[in-house]
Amino acid sequence: MAGNSFGQAFRITTAGESHGPGNVVIIDGVPPGLPLTIEELQVELDRRRPGQSKITTQRQEPDIPQFLSGMFEGQTTGTSLAIFIPNKDQRSRDYSDIKDKYRPGHADYSFDAKYGRRDYRGGGRSSARETGVRVAAGVVASKILKQECRASVQGYVTQVGNIVADIPDPAAITRKMVEQLPDGTPNIVRCPDYVAAEKMVTLIDELRKDCNSIGGVAEIVATGVPAGLGEPVFDKIKADLAKALFSLPAVLGVEYGVGFGCATMTGSEHNDLFAPDEKNAPVIQKDVTGVKTTTNRHGGMLGGITTGMPIVLRAAVKPTSSLPMEQQTVTRDGEETTISTKGRHDPCLLPRFIPMAESMVAIVLADHWLRWKAQCGKIAPDTAR
Ligand SMILES: Cc1cc2nc3c(=O)[nH]c(=O)nc-3n(C[C@H](O)[C@H](O)[C@H](O)COP(=O)(O)O)c2cc1C
Repeated sequence: MAGNSFGQAFRITTAGESHGPGNVVIIDGVPPGLPLTIEELQVELDRRRPGQSKITTQRQEPDIPQFLSGMFEGQTTGTSLAIFIPNKDQRSRDYSDIKDKYRPGHADYSFDAKYGRRDYRGGGRSSARETGVRVAAGVVASKILKQECRASVQGYVTQVGNIVADIPDPAAITRKMVEQLPDGTPNIVRCPDYVAAEKMVTLIDELRKDCNSIGGVAEIVATGVPAGLGEPVFDKIKADLAKALFSLPAVLGVEYGVGFGCATMTGSEHNDLFAPDEKNAPVIQKDVTGVKTTTNRHGGMLGGITTGMPIVLRAAVKPTSSLPMEQQTVTRDGEETTISTKGRHDPCLLPRFIPMAESMVAIVLADHWLRWKAQCGKIAPDTAR
Protein backbone atom coordinates (compact mmCIF):
# COMPACT_ATOMS: atom_id res chain seq x y z
CA MET A 1 0.00 0.00 0.00
CA ALA A 2 2.70 2.49 0.98
CA GLY A 3 4.50 2.48 -2.35
CA ASN A 4 8.05 2.25 -1.05
CA SER A 5 8.93 -0.68 -3.33
CA PHE A 6 9.33 -0.82 -7.10
CA GLY A 7 9.95 -3.69 -9.54
CA GLN A 8 9.25 -7.41 -9.47
CA ALA A 9 12.23 -9.68 -10.22
CA PHE A 10 14.67 -6.83 -9.46
CA ARG A 11 12.90 -5.06 -6.64
CA ILE A 12 14.02 -2.00 -4.71
CA THR A 13 12.58 -0.80 -1.40
CA THR A 14 13.72 2.53 0.02
CA ALA A 15 13.41 4.19 3.42
CA GLY A 16 14.81 7.44 4.72
CA GLU A 17 14.31 11.17 4.79
CA SER A 18 16.27 14.35 4.20
CA HIS A 19 16.89 15.26 7.84
CA GLY A 20 16.99 11.81 9.47
CA PRO A 21 20.13 9.67 9.89
CA GLY A 22 20.17 8.73 6.20
CA ASN A 23 18.56 6.70 3.44
CA VAL A 24 18.64 2.99 2.73
CA VAL A 25 17.73 0.77 -0.21
CA ILE A 26 17.07 -2.95 -0.04
CA ILE A 27 17.49 -4.62 -3.41
CA ASP A 28 15.94 -8.05 -3.87
CA GLY A 29 16.59 -10.26 -6.85
CA VAL A 30 20.27 -9.47 -7.40
CA PRO A 31 21.95 -12.53 -8.93
CA PRO A 32 24.65 -14.06 -6.69
CA GLY A 33 28.29 -13.60 -7.65
CA LEU A 34 28.03 -10.10 -9.11
CA PRO A 35 31.28 -8.23 -8.30
CA LEU A 36 30.48 -4.89 -6.68
CA THR A 37 32.53 -2.25 -4.87
CA ILE A 38 31.81 0.89 -2.89
CA GLU A 39 34.03 2.75 -5.37
CA GLU A 40 31.68 1.81 -8.24
CA LEU A 41 28.72 3.17 -6.30
CA GLN A 42 30.69 6.30 -5.43
CA VAL A 43 31.37 7.20 -9.08
CA GLU A 44 27.65 7.48 -9.78
CA LEU A 45 26.78 9.04 -6.42
CA ASP A 46 29.32 11.78 -7.11
CA ARG A 47 27.40 12.64 -10.29
CA ARG A 48 24.21 13.07 -8.22
CA ARG A 49 25.59 14.63 -5.07
CA PRO A 50 24.95 18.25 -4.09
CA GLY A 51 27.75 20.81 -4.24
CA GLN A 52 29.37 19.53 -7.43
CA SER A 53 29.46 22.84 -9.35
CA LYS A 54 28.45 26.51 -9.27
CA ILE A 55 25.07 25.66 -10.86
CA THR A 56 24.02 23.09 -8.25
CA THR A 57 23.05 23.53 -4.61
CA GLN A 58 26.01 24.39 -2.40
CA ARG A 59 25.06 21.79 0.23
CA GLN A 60 28.08 19.56 0.76
CA GLU A 61 26.94 15.96 1.06
CA PRO A 62 29.76 13.45 0.53
CA ASP A 63 27.15 10.67 0.03
CA ILE A 64 29.45 7.83 1.03
CA PRO A 65 27.54 4.54 0.83
CA GLN A 66 27.86 1.49 3.08
CA PHE A 67 26.85 -2.10 2.40
CA LEU A 68 24.65 -3.41 5.21
CA SER A 69 23.98 -6.88 3.81
CA GLY A 70 24.07 -9.05 0.71
CA MET A 71 27.83 -8.79 0.06
CA PHE A 72 30.64 -11.23 0.79
CA GLU A 73 34.24 -11.00 -0.39
CA GLY A 74 33.46 -8.35 -2.98
CA GLN A 75 30.54 -10.15 -4.59
CA THR A 76 26.80 -10.18 -4.11
CA THR A 77 25.52 -13.18 -2.18
CA GLY A 78 22.09 -13.26 -3.83
CA THR A 79 20.33 -12.40 -0.57
CA SER A 80 18.82 -8.95 -0.08
CA LEU A 81 21.43 -6.31 -0.78
CA ALA A 82 21.11 -3.31 1.55
CA ILE A 83 22.95 -0.03 0.94
CA PHE A 84 22.89 2.89 3.40
CA ILE A 85 23.86 6.51 2.70
CA PRO A 86 24.15 8.70 5.82
CA ASN A 87 22.98 12.34 5.78
CA LYS A 88 25.78 14.68 6.81
CA ASP A 89 25.04 18.30 5.87
CA GLN A 90 21.51 18.95 7.07
CA ARG A 91 20.87 22.44 8.36
CA SER A 92 17.49 22.07 9.97
CA ARG A 93 17.53 25.69 11.16
CA ASP A 94 17.21 26.80 7.53
CA TYR A 95 13.67 25.49 7.70
CA SER A 96 12.47 26.79 11.09
CA ASP A 97 11.03 30.02 9.57
CA ILE A 98 8.82 28.09 7.18
CA LYS A 99 7.70 25.35 9.55
CA ASP A 100 4.04 26.42 9.49
CA LYS A 101 4.01 27.79 5.94
CA TYR A 102 3.33 25.93 2.74
CA ARG A 103 6.06 26.25 0.11
CA PRO A 104 4.42 26.96 -3.29
CA GLY A 105 5.13 24.11 -5.70
CA HIS A 106 6.39 21.75 -2.97
CA ALA A 107 4.74 18.83 -1.19
CA ASP A 108 4.08 20.54 2.18
CA TYR A 109 0.34 21.06 1.79
CA SER A 110 -0.38 17.73 0.15
CA PHE A 111 1.58 15.85 2.86
CA ASP A 112 -0.40 17.67 5.59
CA ALA A 113 -3.62 16.92 3.70
CA LYS A 114 -2.79 13.22 3.70
CA TYR A 115 -0.98 12.58 7.00
CA GLY A 116 -2.04 15.55 9.16
CA ARG A 117 1.65 16.02 10.05
CA ARG A 118 4.99 16.33 8.30
CA ASP A 119 8.68 16.74 8.86
CA TYR A 120 9.04 20.35 7.72
CA ARG A 121 12.86 20.14 7.63
CA GLY A 122 13.55 19.90 3.92
CA GLY A 123 10.55 17.88 2.81
CA GLY A 124 11.18 14.57 4.61
CA ARG A 125 10.25 11.73 2.31
CA SER A 126 9.44 14.09 -0.60
CA SER A 127 13.05 15.28 -0.66
CA ALA A 128 15.39 14.30 -3.49
CA ARG A 129 17.76 12.99 -0.77
CA GLU A 130 15.89 9.70 -1.16
CA THR A 131 17.09 9.34 -4.74
CA GLY A 132 20.72 8.79 -3.68
CA VAL A 133 20.03 5.19 -2.78
CA ARG A 134 18.15 4.73 -6.05
CA VAL A 135 21.33 5.77 -7.84
CA ALA A 136 23.21 3.13 -5.82
CA ALA A 137 20.60 0.54 -6.91
CA GLY A 138 20.99 1.79 -10.48
CA VAL A 139 24.68 0.85 -10.38
CA VAL A 140 23.71 -2.72 -9.52
CA ALA A 141 21.05 -2.78 -12.25
CA SER A 142 23.50 -1.36 -14.81
CA LYS A 143 26.08 -4.00 -13.92
CA ILE A 144 23.54 -6.77 -14.49
CA LEU A 145 22.62 -5.24 -17.86
CA LYS A 146 26.24 -4.77 -18.90
CA GLN A 147 27.36 -8.20 -17.79
CA GLU A 148 24.42 -10.15 -19.15
CA CYS A 149 23.40 -8.37 -22.36
CA ARG A 150 25.86 -5.50 -22.86
CA ALA A 151 23.06 -2.95 -22.63
CA SER A 152 23.78 0.51 -21.24
CA VAL A 153 21.86 3.63 -20.31
CA GLN A 154 22.97 7.21 -20.93
CA GLY A 155 21.15 10.41 -20.03
CA TYR A 156 21.84 14.04 -20.85
CA VAL A 157 20.19 17.44 -20.76
CA THR A 158 18.47 18.55 -23.97
CA GLN A 159 16.73 21.70 -22.81
CA VAL A 160 17.00 24.38 -20.12
CA GLY A 161 14.34 27.06 -20.38
CA ASN A 162 14.17 28.06 -24.06
CA ILE A 163 17.65 26.78 -24.88
CA VAL A 164 17.27 23.55 -26.85
CA ALA A 165 20.22 21.30 -27.70
CA ASP A 166 20.73 19.83 -31.15
CA ILE A 167 21.26 16.07 -30.70
CA PRO A 168 21.17 14.44 -34.17
CA ASP A 169 21.77 10.85 -32.95
CA PRO A 170 20.75 10.12 -29.34
CA ALA A 171 22.25 6.60 -29.46
CA ALA A 172 25.70 8.03 -30.30
CA ILE A 173 25.99 10.09 -27.10
CA THR A 174 28.67 8.71 -24.78
CA ARG A 175 29.34 9.19 -21.08
CA LYS A 176 32.47 11.21 -21.92
CA MET A 177 30.51 13.61 -24.16
CA VAL A 178 28.06 14.21 -21.31
CA GLU A 179 30.57 14.59 -18.50
CA GLN A 180 33.37 16.49 -20.24
CA LEU A 181 33.74 19.52 -22.49
CA PRO A 182 36.14 19.17 -25.46
CA ASP A 183 38.90 20.84 -23.40
CA GLY A 184 38.60 18.12 -20.74
CA THR A 185 36.95 20.35 -18.10
CA PRO A 186 33.67 19.16 -16.49
CA ASN A 187 30.49 19.65 -18.53
CA ILE A 188 28.60 20.91 -15.47
CA VAL A 189 25.19 21.08 -17.16
CA ARG A 190 25.52 17.58 -18.74
CA CYS A 191 24.40 18.73 -22.21
CA PRO A 192 26.47 17.18 -25.05
CA ASP A 193 25.71 20.08 -27.46
CA TYR A 194 28.48 22.30 -26.14
CA VAL A 195 27.23 25.53 -27.74
CA ALA A 196 23.85 25.04 -26.05
CA ALA A 197 25.59 23.90 -22.83
CA GLU A 198 27.43 27.20 -22.48
CA LYS A 199 24.19 29.17 -22.92
CA MET A 200 22.44 26.90 -20.41
CA VAL A 201 25.13 27.49 -17.76
CA THR A 202 24.89 31.27 -18.28
CA LEU A 203 21.09 31.19 -17.99
CA ILE A 204 21.12 29.04 -14.83
CA ASP A 205 23.74 31.25 -13.22
CA GLU A 206 21.75 34.40 -14.02
CA LEU A 207 18.60 32.90 -12.53
CA ARG A 208 20.51 31.78 -9.44
CA LYS A 209 21.68 35.35 -8.90
CA ASP A 210 18.06 36.53 -9.34
CA CYS A 211 16.97 34.07 -6.57
CA ASN A 212 14.98 32.15 -9.19
CA SER A 213 15.09 28.73 -10.86
CA ILE A 214 14.45 27.17 -14.27
CA GLY A 215 13.09 23.90 -15.69
CA GLY A 216 14.22 21.75 -18.58
CA VAL A 217 14.20 18.40 -20.34
CA ALA A 218 16.39 15.30 -19.92
CA GLU A 219 16.72 12.60 -22.58
CA ILE A 220 17.59 9.05 -21.53
CA VAL A 221 18.72 6.49 -24.07
CA ALA A 222 19.20 2.75 -23.53
CA THR A 223 21.25 0.96 -26.17
CA GLY A 224 21.96 -2.75 -26.60
CA VAL A 225 18.66 -3.77 -25.04
CA PRO A 226 17.60 -6.99 -26.77
CA ALA A 227 14.26 -7.32 -28.52
CA GLY A 228 11.61 -9.13 -26.49
CA LEU A 229 11.69 -7.56 -22.99
CA GLY A 230 8.44 -6.37 -21.45
CA GLU A 231 4.86 -7.48 -20.94
CA PRO A 232 1.85 -6.97 -23.17
CA VAL A 233 -0.71 -5.35 -20.87
CA PHE A 234 -0.34 -3.63 -17.46
CA ASP A 235 3.43 -4.05 -17.19
CA LYS A 236 4.21 -2.74 -20.65
CA ILE A 237 7.84 -1.72 -20.47
CA LYS A 238 6.84 1.81 -21.52
CA ALA A 239 4.38 1.93 -18.59
CA ASP A 240 7.03 0.78 -16.12
CA LEU A 241 9.55 3.27 -17.51
CA ALA A 242 7.00 6.07 -17.27
CA LYS A 243 6.25 5.14 -13.65
CA ALA A 244 9.96 4.94 -12.91
CA LEU A 245 10.56 8.45 -14.25
CA PHE A 246 7.38 9.94 -12.79
CA SER A 247 8.38 8.51 -9.39
CA LEU A 248 11.35 10.89 -9.39
CA PRO A 249 10.75 14.28 -7.79
CA ALA A 250 9.85 17.25 -10.02
CA VAL A 251 8.96 15.29 -13.19
CA LEU A 252 5.91 16.75 -14.93
CA GLY A 253 6.07 15.00 -18.29
CA VAL A 254 7.42 11.79 -19.80
CA GLU A 255 7.44 10.82 -23.48
CA TYR A 256 9.27 8.32 -25.65
CA GLY A 257 10.10 8.16 -29.35
CA VAL A 258 8.40 11.08 -31.07
CA GLY A 259 6.16 11.38 -28.01
CA PHE A 260 3.50 14.08 -28.29
CA GLY A 261 4.86 14.79 -31.78
CA CYS A 262 2.89 11.76 -33.00
CA ALA A 263 -0.32 13.78 -32.71
CA THR A 264 0.33 15.74 -35.89
CA MET A 265 1.75 12.89 -37.99
CA THR A 266 0.08 10.67 -40.53
CA GLY A 267 0.53 6.91 -40.32
CA SER A 268 2.92 6.83 -43.27
CA GLU A 269 5.00 9.62 -41.72
CA HIS A 270 5.07 7.91 -38.36
CA ASN A 271 5.65 4.22 -39.15
CA ASP A 272 9.22 3.02 -38.79
CA LEU A 273 9.95 0.65 -41.65
CA PHE A 274 11.50 -2.75 -40.97
CA ALA A 275 14.69 -4.02 -42.59
CA PRO A 276 16.49 -7.32 -41.99
CA ASP A 277 19.35 -7.20 -39.47
CA GLU A 278 21.02 -10.42 -38.44
CA LYS A 279 22.89 -8.68 -35.62
CA ASN A 280 19.55 -8.03 -33.95
CA ALA A 281 18.39 -11.66 -34.09
CA PRO A 282 16.50 -12.76 -30.95
CA VAL A 283 18.73 -14.76 -28.60
CA ILE A 284 16.11 -17.27 -27.56
CA GLN A 285 13.46 -17.35 -30.31
CA LYS A 286 15.84 -18.82 -32.84
CA ASP A 287 13.28 -19.14 -35.63
CA VAL A 288 12.46 -15.41 -35.52
CA THR A 289 14.28 -13.19 -38.03
CA GLY A 290 16.48 -10.37 -36.72
CA VAL A 291 15.23 -6.94 -37.84
CA LYS A 292 15.91 -3.28 -37.25
CA THR A 293 13.88 -0.23 -38.18
CA THR A 294 15.28 2.36 -40.54
CA THR A 295 14.07 5.18 -38.24
CA ASN A 296 13.25 5.14 -34.53
CA ARG A 297 10.09 7.17 -34.01
CA HIS A 298 8.68 4.30 -31.90
CA GLY A 299 11.49 4.80 -29.33
CA GLY A 300 12.48 1.15 -29.06
CA MET A 301 9.19 -0.30 -27.78
CA LEU A 302 6.12 -1.68 -29.57
CA GLY A 303 3.20 -3.41 -27.85
CA GLY A 304 4.89 -2.92 -24.48
CA ILE A 305 7.88 -5.03 -25.60
CA THR A 306 11.33 -3.92 -26.71
CA THR A 307 12.21 -4.07 -30.42
CA GLY A 308 16.00 -4.04 -30.09
CA MET A 309 16.19 -0.43 -31.28
CA PRO A 310 17.51 2.18 -28.82
CA ILE A 311 14.97 3.10 -26.14
CA VAL A 312 14.64 6.89 -26.19
CA LEU A 313 12.77 8.64 -23.37
CA ARG A 314 12.40 12.26 -22.33
CA ALA A 315 11.39 13.74 -18.98
CA ALA A 316 10.31 17.34 -18.40
CA VAL A 317 11.60 18.56 -15.03
CA LYS A 318 10.07 21.57 -13.33
CA PRO A 319 11.99 24.55 -11.94
CA THR A 320 12.98 24.11 -8.27
CA SER A 321 10.06 25.29 -6.19
CA SER A 322 11.97 26.46 -3.08
CA LEU A 323 13.01 30.02 -3.89
CA PRO A 324 14.93 32.59 -1.87
CA MET A 325 12.61 35.30 -3.31
CA GLU A 326 9.42 36.26 -1.51
CA GLN A 327 6.22 34.56 -2.68
CA GLN A 328 2.64 34.57 -1.49
CA THR A 329 1.38 31.59 0.54
CA VAL A 330 -0.80 30.43 3.44
CA THR A 331 0.03 29.12 6.93
CA ARG A 332 -1.17 25.83 8.37
CA ASP A 333 -3.85 27.89 10.17
CA GLY A 334 -5.08 29.40 6.94
CA GLU A 335 -3.56 32.88 7.31
CA GLU A 336 -2.25 34.60 4.22
CA THR A 337 1.46 35.32 4.45
CA THR A 338 4.65 35.36 2.38
CA ILE A 339 7.51 32.90 2.20
CA SER A 340 11.11 32.78 1.05
CA THR A 341 13.17 29.63 1.46
CA LYS A 342 16.61 30.18 2.96
CA GLY A 343 17.98 26.65 2.45
CA ARG A 344 20.47 25.86 -0.30
CA HIS A 345 18.67 24.75 -3.46
CA ASP A 346 19.59 23.88 -7.04
CA PRO A 347 18.73 26.74 -9.44
CA CYS A 348 18.11 24.03 -12.07
CA LEU A 349 17.48 20.38 -11.19
CA LEU A 350 18.50 18.92 -14.56
CA PRO A 351 22.27 18.32 -14.11
CA ARG A 352 21.71 16.27 -10.95
CA PHE A 353 18.57 14.65 -12.34
CA ILE A 354 20.53 12.81 -15.06
CA PRO A 355 22.07 10.05 -12.89
CA MET A 356 18.72 9.58 -11.11
CA ALA A 357 16.87 9.09 -14.40
CA GLU A 358 19.55 6.76 -15.78
CA SER A 359 19.30 4.70 -12.61
CA MET A 360 15.53 4.34 -12.73
CA VAL A 361 15.67 3.32 -16.40
CA ALA A 362 18.39 0.74 -15.63
CA ILE A 363 16.32 -0.62 -12.73
CA VAL A 364 13.30 -1.17 -15.01
CA LEU A 365 15.42 -2.80 -17.71
CA ALA A 366 17.19 -5.11 -15.23
CA ASP A 367 13.81 -6.06 -13.79
CA HIS A 368 12.40 -6.93 -17.22
CA TRP A 369 15.61 -8.70 -18.23
CA LEU A 370 15.35 -10.99 -15.20
CA ARG A 371 11.60 -11.50 -15.77
CA TRP A 372 12.24 -12.36 -19.42
CA LYS A 373 14.94 -14.84 -18.48
CA ALA A 374 12.65 -16.42 -15.87
CA GLN A 375 9.76 -16.82 -18.30
CA CYS A 376 11.38 -17.33 -21.69
CA GLY A 377 14.98 -18.15 -20.84
CA LYS A 378 14.78 -21.92 -20.89
CA ILE A 379 12.36 -23.17 -23.45
CA ALA A 380 12.33 -26.97 -23.32
CA PRO A 381 12.98 -28.53 -26.72
CA ASP A 382 9.73 -29.46 -28.46
CA THR A 383 10.17 -33.24 -28.35
CA ALA A 384 6.80 -33.86 -30.02
CA ARG A 385 8.09 -32.55 -33.35
C1 LIG B 1 17.99 16.62 -8.08
C2 LIG B 1 16.79 17.21 -7.40
C3 LIG B 1 16.99 18.08 -6.35
C4 LIG B 1 15.90 18.72 -5.76
N1 LIG B 1 16.14 19.64 -4.79
C5 LIG B 1 15.12 20.44 -4.39
C6 LIG B 1 15.36 21.52 -3.53
O1 LIG B 1 16.48 21.77 -3.08
N2 LIG B 1 14.31 22.30 -3.19
C7 LIG B 1 13.06 22.06 -3.68
O2 LIG B 1 12.14 22.81 -3.40
N3 LIG B 1 12.79 21.03 -4.48
C8 LIG B 1 13.79 20.21 -4.85
N4 LIG B 1 13.53 19.15 -5.67
C9 LIG B 1 12.16 18.91 -6.12
C10 LIG B 1 11.25 18.46 -5.01
O3 LIG B 1 11.76 17.32 -4.35
C11 LIG B 1 9.85 18.17 -5.57
O4 LIG B 1 9.45 19.20 -6.42
C12 LIG B 1 8.86 18.05 -4.45
O5 LIG B 1 9.10 16.88 -3.71
C13 LIG B 1 7.41 17.98 -4.95
O6 LIG B 1 7.23 16.86 -5.75
P1 LIG B 1 6.76 16.96 -7.26
O7 LIG B 1 7.47 18.13 -7.85
O8 LIG B 1 7.21 15.67 -7.87
O9 LIG B 1 5.28 17.14 -7.24
C14 LIG B 1 14.58 18.43 -6.22
C15 LIG B 1 14.40 17.51 -7.25
C16 LIG B 1 15.48 16.90 -7.86
C17 LIG B 1 15.24 15.96 -9.00
